[in-house]
Amino acid sequence: MAVSRGEVYENPRCRERVVIRTPAEETGGQRTIMDVYVQPGGAVSGAHVHPLSEERFTLVRGRVAFWVDGREVVLDRPGQTILIPAGAKHRWWNAGGDESRHVCELIGRADRFEKLVLRQLFGLAQDGKTTPEGMPHLLQQAVTTLEFEDVLRFTSPAWPVQRVLFGVLAPIARLLGYQGCNPEYMERKPSEIAELEPLPDEVAAWHL
Ligand SMILES: [Fe+2]
Repeated sequence: MAVSRGEVYENPRCRERVVIRTPAEETGGQRTIMDVYVQPGGAVSGAHVHPLSEERFTLVRGRVAFWVDGREVVLDRPGQTILIPAGAKHRWWNAGGDESRHVCELIGRADRFEKLVLRQLFGLAQDGKTTPEGMPHLLQQAVTTLEFEDVLRFTSPAWPVQRVLFGVLAPIARLLGYQGCNPEYMERKPSEIAELEPLPDEVAAWHL
């Protein structure tokens, strides 16, 4: 089931609510633009890379911190933006005391990103099948990581170690019924359909 404009996807573990502005389906699978609302204390589930996608984040309100390849950057003024190149290690978190809102634009493999992040990882978090930080448990992580290695790789342990470890664990996980891409999550309805909040001009200028 394709992701559509206005749909809301939520990750209770990461305290994150995503509203789709432009789905991959409208861009030939190449770009997804999302409003991301994060509660205080919320954060992406772990440091990761997108091997074939770049990601642009632009602040709308609040304060959001990024760690990118060892460097920390804080966005605290509307319209401030950061581009994460393909292959750069990164993570982010709400660094303020109020709900933050930023725009995230994922460029490249966006249709696959929607399946992995908004459906598979968020679905697991909704069902309590992750760590408190939103990371899938080991056997689940083995099959999901190998299924989506072109989209997102968590950075710990090192990728060559993950390949060996998950290569050993994945057949066991499959025997036990774990699936890298659960059909149930691919069909799960969004939590609601929302009216898109307008974007300030200084934010919209980065996401035309
Ligand atoms: Fe990312």
